[in-house]
Amino acid sequence: MRKLLHRLDHVLCRLANRVIFRLNRVECLTDLANITGTLRLAGNGRIRIGARTRMNSGPRRNPIGGDTKLTLVCRRGGEIDIGPDCGLSNCAIVADSKVVLEAEVMLGGGVKIYDTDFHNVDPKLRRAEHAGTYHGVSRPVLIRRNAFIGAHSIILKGVTIGENSVIGAGSVVSRDIPDNEIWAGNPATLVRQITPS
Ligand SMILES: CC(C)(COP(=O)(O)OP(=O)(O)OC[C@H]1O[C@@H](n2cnc3c(N)ncnc32)[C@H](O)[C@@H]1OP(=O)(O)O)[C@@H](O)C(=O)NCCC(=O)NCCS
Repeated sequence: MRKLLHRLDHVLCRLANRVIFRLNRVECLTDLANITGTLRLAGNGRIRIGARTRMNSGPRRNPIGGDTKLTLVCRRGGEIDIGPDCGLSNCAIVADSKVVLEAEVMLGGGVKIYDTDFHNVDPKLRRAEHAGTYHGVSRPVLIRRNAFIGAHSIILKGVTIGENSVIGAGSVVSRDIPDNEIWAGNPATLVRQITPS
């Protein structure tokens, strides 16, 4: 019985994601069987999901970061481009300009990637948002091939994370990270270099 319910749940999720992707015009190259749980999508930009990429969304799919669904938001014509063979669990990506994940990137549970500050630091410009004039600052984010972002980390606007690099759990990254290095903390600092085997 439990097996049957599990199978039914999986089929329903696949159906729901198919509808969600169609409504949001997502270019999805991965098999929908690679996505557990339903995604939350918003905005009017372009989202692309690469081949064989795996995604978990919701508490029953991965308890880490499971207080939220996997959320992809493209505002103001922003783009989210997720490469092939990536793995994402219960993370949130918000793009006002562009967020790119190259191939084989892993995002741990509860990771947030924002290419925007959402609100301006200038108090007058921030107040103008109430009148409908938006002054949020946005710069593209690039996560390079095979990088691994630890659970609950926050990657801020304009950041590039280097190839194979690792970000420790719970870090805040506001500056570029070179290839093959481990960085952790708030603000993230160098832990050590990685020698790929
Ligand atoms: C970053 C990480 C990979 C480092 O592992 P490691 O190489 O075994 O490193 P160590 O545990 O030996 O720690 C090395 C130093 O970095 C510090 N450090 C490690 N992880 C840290 C973190 N997340 N935040 C701040 N500092 C951290 C340690 O305190 C230690 O500092 P010290 O040398 O001053 O004592 C690991 O700690 C981590 O955060 N992994 C991510 C786990 C995760 O989120 N998985 C995804 C689940 S969905």
